[in-house]
Amino acid sequence: MGRDAATEITITAGGSEGIFDAITATITAGDEVIVLDPSYDLYAPVVALAGGWTIRVPLDPTSFGIDWDRVAAAITPRTRLVIVNSPHNPTGAMWSPADVARLASLAEAHDLLVISDEVYEHIVFDGRSHVSALSHPGLAARSFVISSFGKSFHCTGWRLGAVVAPPALTRELRKVHQYNTFGAFAPAHWAAATMLREHTDHLVALGAFYQAKRDRFVDGLARTRFRPLPVSGAYFQLVDYGAISDAPDDEFARQLCLEHGVAAIPLSPFYDVPPAGQRLLRLCFAKTDATLDAALARLEGV
Ligand SMILES: Cc1ncc(COP(=O)(O)O)c(C=O)c1O
Repeated sequence: MGRDAATEITITAGGSEGIFDAITATITAGDEVIVLDPSYDLYAPVVALAGGWTIRVPLDPTSFGIDWDRVAAAITPRTRLVIVNSPHNPTGAMWSPADVARLASLAEAHDLLVISDEVYEHIVFDGRSHVSALSHPGLAARSFVISSFGKSFHCTGWRLGAVVAPPALTRELRKVHQYNTFGAFAPAHWAAATMLREHTDHLVALGAFYQAKRDRFVDGLARTRFRPLPVSGAYFQLVDYGAISDAPDDEFARQLCLEHGVAAIPLSPFYDVPPAGQRLLRLCFAKTDATLDAALARLEGV
């Protein structure tokens, strides 16, 4: 269904500003916000700034799927907002239409609002389709859906994103947007509009573009002692380094960077409480093929 730009779409300084505005517009001191664990590191600090409490619900430690019974059990009379993210940073997992339906019924039953962080919506692999919160009318009616032109057009530094929300929620969001950034850098609006109008093939081809990089990287990892985990979307490859070291992930990531010249992100900072003994790193494959090959050559020596 088409959205009305005047009342339902707000252009923000990156998806980040959209998330900040949506959280700040909807919660007040003492409200509880359900966030999945692990999750992107922006959510909890913004909830804290707004005086709210982040309630973490662990994802399945193997599939990184959402356990909706645990989400339901975490809902209290103070719960105001649920934040979800698919394709998921840091794990690359994606949710299904059944997940969307389950969240819609919980949100309706408990009168909750939702932030659906969909910044990697066009970066999906292996013939899978992104399922937006907008695909479910009941969920769309109570959701802020976050997009990022930076992720979709390879220009994260340009700081341009969008929030789609029903008119009543958009009005509240814009009260924060107005006094936060007022507006994102105007020339970037024109550039994004030109891309959307004149290069409609770009978004269609984006999944294949990154899938080729993922496949190149995963093929190369077979020559290393790192074990890649399955990735359905976004541009991060999780690797298990348990066959190489028993060091905690932050320590191992530091060692990998200083001794081998490959920068990886440890997974533990994405958690409130990381699973004991987990030995995972996140490697970003949004790189030129030459950089990926150079990194693989170094990883072979680890
Ligand atoms: C899950 C997720 N949400 C939001 C953002 C922020 O996007 P933007 O760069 O458009 O602010 C990121 C950026 O890394 C992200 O990974």
